[in-house]
Amino acid sequence: MSFVHEIDHGTPASASAATVKLIIDGHEVTVSAGTSIMRAAVEAGIQVPKLCATDSLEAFGSCRLCLVEIEGRAGTPASCTTPVAAGMVVSTQTERLKQVRKGVMELYISDHPLDCLTCAANGDCELQDMAGAVGLREVRYGYQGANHLGQAKDESNPYFAFDPSKCIVCSRCVRACEEVQGTFALTIQGRGFESKVSAGMAESFIASECVSCGACVQACPTATLIEKSVIEIGQPEHAVTTTCAYCGVGCNFKAEMRGEELVRMVPAKDGKANHGHSCVKGRFAWGYAHHRERILKPMIRETIDQPWREVSWDEAIGRVASEFRRLQQAHGKRAIGGITSSRCTNEETYLVQKLVRGGFGNNNVDTCARVCHSPTGYGLKATFGTSAGTQDFDSVEQADIVLVIGANPTDAHPVFASRLKKRLRQGAKLIVIDPRRIDLVRTPHIEAAFHLALRPGTNAAILNALAHTIVTECLVDEAFVRERCDLSTFEDWAAFVAEPCNSPETVGPLAGVPPETIRAAARLFATRGNGAIYYGLGVTEHSQGSTVVMAIANLAMATGNIGRPGVGVNPLRGQNNVQGSCDMGSFPHEFSGYRHVSDDGVRGTFEALWGRPLDAEPGLRIGNMLDAALDGSFKGLYVQGEDILQSDPDTHHVAEALAAMECVVVQDLFLNETAAYAHVFLPGSTFLEKDGTFTNAERRINRVRRVMTPKNGLADWEITLAIARAMRFDMHYDHPSQVMDEIARTTPTFAGVSYALLDREGSVQWPCNERAPTGTPVMHADGFVRGKGCFIVTEYVPTDEKVGPRFPLLLTTGRILSQYNVGAQTRRTANIVWHDEDVLEIHPHDAEDRGVRDGDWVRLDSRAGGTTLRARVTDRVAPGVVYTTFHHPGTQANVVTTDNSDWATNCPEYKVTAVQVAPSNGPSDWQRTYDAQALAHRRIAAAPAAE
Ligand code: SF4
Ligand code: SF4
Ligand code: SF4
Ligand code: FES
Repeated sequence: MSFVHEIDHGTPASASAATVKLIIDGHEVTVSAGTSIMRAAVEAGIQVPKLCATDSLEAFGSCRLCLVEIEGRAGTPASCTTPVAAGMVVSTQTERLKQVRKGVMELYISDHPLDCLTCAANGDCELQDMAGAVGLREVRYGYQGANHLGQAKDESNPYFAFDPSKCIVCSRCVRACEEVQGTFALTIQGRGFESKVSAGMAESFIASECVSCGACVQACPTATLIEKSVIEIGQPEHAVTTTCAYCGVGCNFKAEMRGEELVRMVPAKDGKANHGHSCVKGRFAWGYAHHRERILKPMIRETIDQPWREVSWDEAIGRVASEFRRLQQAHGKRAIGGITSSRCTNEETYLVQKLVRGGFGNNNVDTCARVCHSPTGYGLKATFGTSAGTQDFDSVEQADIVLVIGANPTDAHPVFASRLKKRLRQGAKLIVIDPRRIDLVRTPHIEAAFHLALRPGTNAAILNALAHTIVTECLVDEAFVRERCDLSTFEDWAAFVAEPCNSPETVGPLAGVPPETIRAAARLFATRGNGAIYYGLGVTEHSQGSTVVMAIANLAMATGNIGRPGVGVNPLRGQNNVQGSCDMGSFPHEFSGYRHVSDDGVRGTFEALWGRPLDAEPGLRIGNMLDAALDGSFKGLYVQGEDILQSDPDTHHVAEALAAMECVVVQDLFLNETAAYAHVFLPGSTFLEKDGTFTNAERRINRVRRVMTPKNGLADWEITLAIARAMRFDMHYDHPSQVMDEIARTTPTFAGVSYALLDREGSVQWPCNERAPTGTPVMHADGFVRGKGCFIVTEYVPTDEKVGPRFPLLLTTGRILSQYNVGAQTRRTANIVWHDEDVLEIHPHDAEDRGVRDGDWVRLDSRAGGTTLRARVTDRVAPGVVYTTFHHPGTQANVVTTDNSDWATNCPEYKVTAVQVAPSNGPSDWQRTYDAQALAHRRIAAAPAAE
């Protein structure tokens, strides 16, 4: 727990290693060269009055409040814009300075509403503080002159208000939007007295290009831009540092509280993944935690057509244990299994796989990473020796050329995208490989050097063509390959990519990219300097997902882009803890730390610790569990924090399999789609209600801290413990820190991790052990984890999903900024104002051929199924390609996707489906009845009348 207000150093820290000594107000101060006088003073404990400066932004020098006197220099320079110099003697408080500052403050205050007592920022207003700091006692000009007091408020944004009458035109908001967020949505319009902050083209915030990241609100020193939650609730009185539960960036936040009431989430300045920045989801979309649809009591029912009946925790847990035991007695110990969640903590995930392996006695455990990044694990382990990205996010600041393939960071990983955009504005070059013109291709002050708008499904071909150019034009980093890689695998690979079938001239026509563009992009990547590759689900969710991950690794090794800052292979993980759920042993063939269940030594360690014999046979993957359910051999499933009916491919198949099971247990916040087939519902807890850790895309283990009591009575980890105990598998922990201690004891890459270390360091990146006691920001620095880097031949094999006369278009899917995955949380927040339905993007030519206009309802059909949604006619997608998001259950985009999957990992091929689009009169019958059906599934029997 900490105080809400943090020290603001006024200007950013200097990165210089050299130091400078100077005197400030009689104190000798030593600081890094390049530090501002203002920051040097703050570091010495001396506050210089300021308004336009804040340490998240470059100094601007407009308010003239921070003036100082420097011996031997004329005038009163601004301390925020003046760097320190050796031997400088500075005075921050002289009679002359006091008078100047009072005069400045008088001008501000004469044009400011004097409603401090009822202002929402009372207690957190820098203008108020500065009036006190300069000793302002009167305003000689009075308050009757020309002023801005009558200006209308803009309350269009659901989360923050803009009251221009309180604006002091310090430009902090404008600079935050430019420097930190990179959206450039704000400007100062007009000059002098007429100058004012304006969103977009003098629009409301909601109508402008603002993405609601909150950076301007955080930067504003007054109540001009302020969170509506603060207006409603009041100022927070304490803060707890925790981690966002949405995406794999893993931003740290200060949860600012009044007692147990959350007032606002403020991005933590010392968060190592986000450095004080946030996106609309983590910053504002936490209201789902107390949404009225949240289920807070355990419920059971005998059959899935009955209404739910609320019961005690004891009865619900007893039912789970007795049903699972009955099913194992009747059908064998492998008749049940569990699914872990990438939304839950490492500790919770570890406990679920421990319950399955130790308590159920089999390895039937899988995770939702199966449907997103399992190819990353496979591909990077095969080439580098470890199943994780190679860098930290800070690394991008040293990249010279960035290749983004199959990822859309501005929507899916927004805080990382802001850092990437900053680096691109500084001059780094960008290559985008994506079927769709994502925002990064052209956005304010950024333009990609190349956009390879390939046909969905041709990633492997394009990467081979890039490699072909690099090998045949002698652009390989031979010294790196000779020293760091397995030469025989390199030679095989080089001979393979040099084949004519991999040349840009052969690949270009089939991928729909001009050969000369492929060649130019390859040359740029190989010769520009530090080359960093970032990729997402547009790489993994293909029938060749693992192949393409290996092709990316090959490209990085061939160009020497591994093992130092600024380079690397960086999977942008989708969910907050997808890395962690994989690390914790959620796959049916691996214990924590990616060690195979058939390894007698590893298995022996766990057997000794858990006191149970463990199965040496890999268990069933999610898809195999579903198939086995339809065969009649798999009967019971414990699903923690996952909605497999919505997130897994071929919805009909999943529904039939779930319906065939005898005991489905769903643990979640809401009665999700999967719960329609459940017999026991265990109410889950939010990230605000529990302790634990999440591991982000850069392998960073971040603390999640409980800020309020679980509304359902138990945190998720306690529920798993209760099930284990009821099944007579005694797992005992008093606190999640003890679970982490066990993980550290049993998992070499986590050997040094403890809550004490995390509390001290803020966060660490695994491997964290004796050799790396505070973690490993960049992997494979001195050698690959597997020894020598292994090149793997990555032959392009076209997907079985072919277009033809019936299904002539290719559908690909993605995310949008304001929504998250299947939308269970974000749809229950005000984020719905930005995206209240999934729409189908279609190129104008394809739309015209079909008589479809923008906004029309269209039917989308594939070989697997069909749905209807509205069309958005746009040239963001190429002719022949259509695109949609999958955030709304009423659309059920996965009804359309096929059951094709990655050859190595079964990761579904969500990104390529042959479809047809035709005009429609409106939603299909099942969509029309969706709400009614959903309500039926959510029926809860009335409580029996009291006797
Ligand atoms: S909320 Fe973010 S995007 Fe919107 S104006 Fe403020 S800084 Fe810019
Ligand atoms: S809105 Fe706030 S940050 Fe922006 S110029 Fe006005 S006072 Fe400064
Ligand atoms: S970028 Fe990701 S982790 Fe950060 S605030 Fe947004 S959703 Fe949360
Ligand atoms: S704080 Fe330095 S000029 Fe405003």
